[in-house]
Amino acid sequence: MSDTSSNTMWGGRFAAGPDAIMEAINASIGFDQRMAAQDIAGSRAHAAMLAATGIVENSDAEAMREGLLTILSEIEAGTFQFSTALEDIHMNVEARLKDLIGEPAGRLHTGRSRNDQVATDFKLWVRDQFDAAEAGLVVLIKALLGQAEAGAEWVMPGFTHLQTAQPVTWGHHMMAYVEMFGRDLSRVRDARARMNESPLGAAALAGTSFPIDRDMTAEALGFDRPSANSLDAVSDRDFALEFLSCASISAMHLSRFAEELVIWSSAQFRFVALSDRFSTGSSIMPQKKNPDAAELIRAKVGRIFGANTALMMVMKGLPLTYSKDMQEDKEQVFDAADSWMLALAAMEGMVRDMTANRDSLAAAAGSGFSTATDLADWLVRVLGLPFREAHHITGALVAKAESKGCDLPNLALDEMKVAYAGITQDVFTVLGVENSVHSRTSYGGTAPVQVRAQIARWKEILT
Ligand code: ARG
Repeated sequence: MSDTSSNTMWGGRFAAGPDAIMEAINASIGFDQRMAAQDIAGSRAHAAMLAATGIVENSDAEAMREGLLTILSEIEAGTFQFSTALEDIHMNVEARLKDLIGEPAGRLHTGRSRNDQVATDFKLWVRDQFDAAEAGLVVLIKALLGQAEAGAEWVMPGFTHLQTAQPVTWGHHMMAYVEMFGRDLSRVRDARARMNESPLGAAALAGTSFPIDRDMTAEALGFDRPSANSLDAVSDRDFALEFLSCASISAMHLSRFAEELVIWSSAQFRFVALSDRFSTGSSIMPQKKNPDAAELIRAKVGRIFGANTALMMVMKGLPLTYSKDMQEDKEQVFDAADSWMLALAAMEGMVRDMTANRDSLAAAAGSGFSTATDLADWLVRVLGLPFREAHHITGALVAKAESKGCDLPNLALDEMKVAYAGITQDVFTVLGVENSVHSRTSYGGTAPVQVRAQIARWKEILT
């Protein structure tokens, strides 16, 4: 279809075509062509329903179906000519349908509007992305379970304030992320279930006087039911905001983990080695192996948070129902979805390929007086001291070790007795990191027996 001076879709009351700047600010075809498959699916469902309810002739509906399938193959083959003058994906498809099948194309828009059409298309697109995120999270969790299983009892330092706190196990640290990504997974599933109502048939805003069958189109498009209020149906973008919220929280988890991988892969830590497949080199420093994927995950999170904020801002001042502001929803969501999927995949690849350096982890686990809490607990448990007093005595022993430049297990019993005369040789049994982690058997604790129980629970959940 050739561009005309006034729009053939709604140009009845217009004598002149739009200014070029108007066309530029108004058109969304540059980005909403990503919803072409969804738009055609929505139109096919609508056409079939129009025939089933007797609103259009079967022969017209059949022509629409054929034409829409032709358009889909043209788009897939890259031969479809998108036109900015036709504003958006909906009008581009409809205009092409007119080219292909003539007069019956004009009947497709009976009992619907672009307002319910765009809401439907966008929901279908976002729903696919929820499914992709679910799949991405599941494989990432499985990769983490693999790491946790391999190193369920490898000791490493646990940190608070990035200062050595208490020894933990590698498996326990990996399983902490399994819990985080597991909650992300559950958020994705909740949000997907909540958004799965069909706006199609809400028409412009008020519903329609045609005897349409909204249950039929909802079912054909895989929705659980039609949305119950037409005003809400055309103006709701909660589903996109929930997608961005889910993406933001998950991206925050990805970013924290990415930050740890950047630190852990440094020469100062050497906790992990990232694979060549997920690292880059330096053009000038031959020794370098950089954790670029982790850094880019950490950075992409900014785009996702930005999209969430941007769409909140777009929506917050809009009266019911549709306003053109809402056209600004898509690019944010497209970009955030791309960033989230890529970050999930990159993290999964890094985790699957990375090698934990058991020796470095163990050496670090024993440094920094990491078993000081075990010493204090021993004073309470064996000698019956109040915890506050035990804390004070242990602090004095840490200061002593620090001044000698040694670790707690290297202090002599006599030196210990200076801090508290009742200390016996038995104390040395709790100063080793292995003993420390094996003793933390409380539910959810770092003892390998607990870590293995959690790995088994997650494997059960994911089967
Ligand atoms: N391109 C528009 C959007 O993305 C489609 C809906 C247009 N509706 C309208 N009343 N102008 O929101």
